Amino acid sequence: KSIPVLTIDGPGGAGKGTISSLIAKRLGWHLLDSGALYRLTAAAAIKHAVALDDEQGVAALAQSLDVAFPVGEGGVRTLLEGEDVSQLIRTEQMGERASMVAAMPEVRTALLQRQRDFCQTPGLVADGRDMGTVVFTDAPLKVFLTASAEERARRRHLQLQEAGMDASLPSLLKEIQARDARDTQRSVAPLKPADDAITLDTTRLSIPEVVERLSELLAQKG
Ligand code: C5P
Repeated sequence: KSIPVLTIDGPGGAGKGTISSLIAKRLGWHLLDSGALYRLTAAAAIKHAVALDDEQGVAALAQSLDVAFPVGEGGVRTLLEGEDVSQLIRTEQMGERASMVAAMPEVRTALLQRQRDFCQTPGLVADGRDMGTVVFTDAPLKVFLTASAEERARRRHLQLQEAGMDASLPSLLKEIQARDARDTQRSVAPLKPADDAITLDTTRLSIPEVVERLSELLAQKG
């Protein structure tokens, strides 16, 4: 029997990260935060002084990325070459850089197998932009999570405030719209729902409501 995969794709700030980790915890499944791999690739490029538009150079780094996700008291940490970059990769600036390296086909190819390796028993929740359209095309349940740009900016603002970081709401909205444009208009693996995905607009839904809805969908798939 094949290992079940739930793919959760959608634009930045739609709540994919929070929802994916809650569902993974509830099911006892593994979790793939594919955006983190693109953020880590961008961070590695900066660390090794590789230009962000040097496709082959960045792809080589992506291929040999030395990362670890140790679970400790404060939750999951992210290590790049042994160095804790958990905070560094969460900044808006690194998200922007991630979306630049993510637009390069060789970089996406370099990360493909690494992402598929996350698929292990008893199951996987895969969070990203192309989980259902490219990486796990056979997944039995594909969800496309979205929300209005304004609502996503508001959520990101709250999230940053809670993490002790400051950002202005209008500039966050602009960044979100710019990143949406780059992610949906790129030629390789553009952000869009898979043909067999179920779209869920979370603009007016709370986190528990979204988790409930997804649990129902999973139960229906049995
Ligand atoms: O989800 P997150 O904001 O961490 O992703 C950062 C960037 O990485 C996205 O804006 C997108 O350009 C890229 N990405 C991608 N494919 C994925 C996950 C993320 O292109 N599966």
